[in-house]
Amino acid sequence: MQMTELIRKKREGLALSRDEIQYMIENFTNGNIPDYQMSAFCMAVIFKGMNDEETAALTQAMAHSGDMLDLSCFGNLSVDKHSTGGVGDKTSLVIGPIVASCGCVFAKMSGRGLGHTGGTIDKLESLNGYRTSATQKEFLEQAERIGIALIGQTGNFAPADKKLYALRDVTDTVDSIPLIVSSIMSKKIAAGAKNIVLDVKCGSGAFMKDTASARILAEKMVKIGKKCGRNIAAVITDMDVPLGYAVGNALEVKEAIDLLKGKNISDLRQICIAVSAHLVSMCLGISLQEAEEKANKALTNGAAFAKFKEWISAQGADADWADDTNKFPKAPVEYELLSEKDGYISHMDAEMIGRASMELGAGRKTKDDMIDHAAGIVLRIKNGEYVKRGDVLATLYTSDDKKLCRAKELYLSALEFSDKKPINGKLIIDIVK
Ligand code: URA
Repeated sequence: MQMTELIRKKREGLALSRDEIQYMIENFTNGNIPDYQMSAFCMAVIFKGMNDEETAALTQAMAHSGDMLDLSCFGNLSVDKHSTGGVGDKTSLVIGPIVASCGCVFAKMSGRGLGHTGGTIDKLESLNGYRTSATQKEFLEQAERIGIALIGQTGNFAPADKKLYALRDVTDTVDSIPLIVSSIMSKKIAAGAKNIVLDVKCGSGAFMKDTASARILAEKMVKIGKKCGRNIAAVITDMDVPLGYAVGNALEVKEAIDLLKGKNISDLRQICIAVSAHLVSMCLGISLQEAEEKANKALTNGAAFAKFKEWISAQGADADWADDTNKFPKAPVEYELLSEKDGYISHMDAEMIGRASMELGAGRKTKDDMIDHAAGIVLRIKNGEYVKRGDVLATLYTSDDKKLCRAKELYLSALEFSDKKPINGKLIIDIVK
């Protein structure tokens, strides 16, 4: 087999066989197929696409290109979730404890943030002592004992995707549904869970800016997940506005704890319950309604909060911090950003708010940047609310007051005002099963 033949076939819009895809991924991963040939292939996919069979074969070849986590010891109980990335998305910190207290096994590997979206591992590292790595044995033992373990990506999972994603990034070939689907799903398949719920974000702070493209991505991922033998559903959710009020690592962990302790943070609660209910329903084989009741109960009766403390303490953090969130480190600079106008907030650009938080030190511009765990933003006013000149729009937190000026500029540019009360869109746009 020759890579040039495969490039030509795709260039002419023909479908590749499973064997051809396997050959290509194997030889790209081991360095026999050079980057320039793989780039040409990706560009051909941009123009000619891939059918579902090809996308499933690509997903499986990439998933099997490195280590595969074996969660079969948990039977049907293993669950995983994936968010396509948003601003203020701290849902894993709440969903994990909810589903674990309902009897599922949430054994998950998460990533770090890059750019305007945050990463769960960075958030958890704001808990002093939290260990983000473990041996496979420790990880599985903890998941078995308490139903939840969450570590950073370790080992050599889906190395083909790592290499291919880096190449797509510099050849402007990220933007292809089959390539995105196989990239995300290969990592989920390698991570081993039997039941998966995808939170496909849609809007100004998300990768997918409109509902139509989010729906196409969600449908394809669900189809490929099923072809790979997983129980899977996707929840398409709005990411025009940050989720909850807190953006930034320690601030988001504190907000997740507040929700677990019973504070009503409506949008965050709604998404956590929806994703948890689908996971619990698939994992325990019960109706969605029954699963939603279980998830609600775990959140309301304190079981999920108790599970959260058990979890962070098993991974080395001090569970007292959850009882008293004043123990989290505070940013030395705290700045109240005031409104310069009267009016309803008619639009908030979530990506711009994510970038403002990154400027304050909460995120990375390159993967080697250090982050400031205490930095970030707490929104005081959200979409649809009325503000008067002089009202506090948001509180900005940082360790370096020189960072305030640019962050303020970005935050203000994220807001649009109107004289009329706007109608907020749906938070959960659709479910794909
Ligand atoms: N996230 C991924 O992991 N892969 C993509 O291709 C796009 C987003």
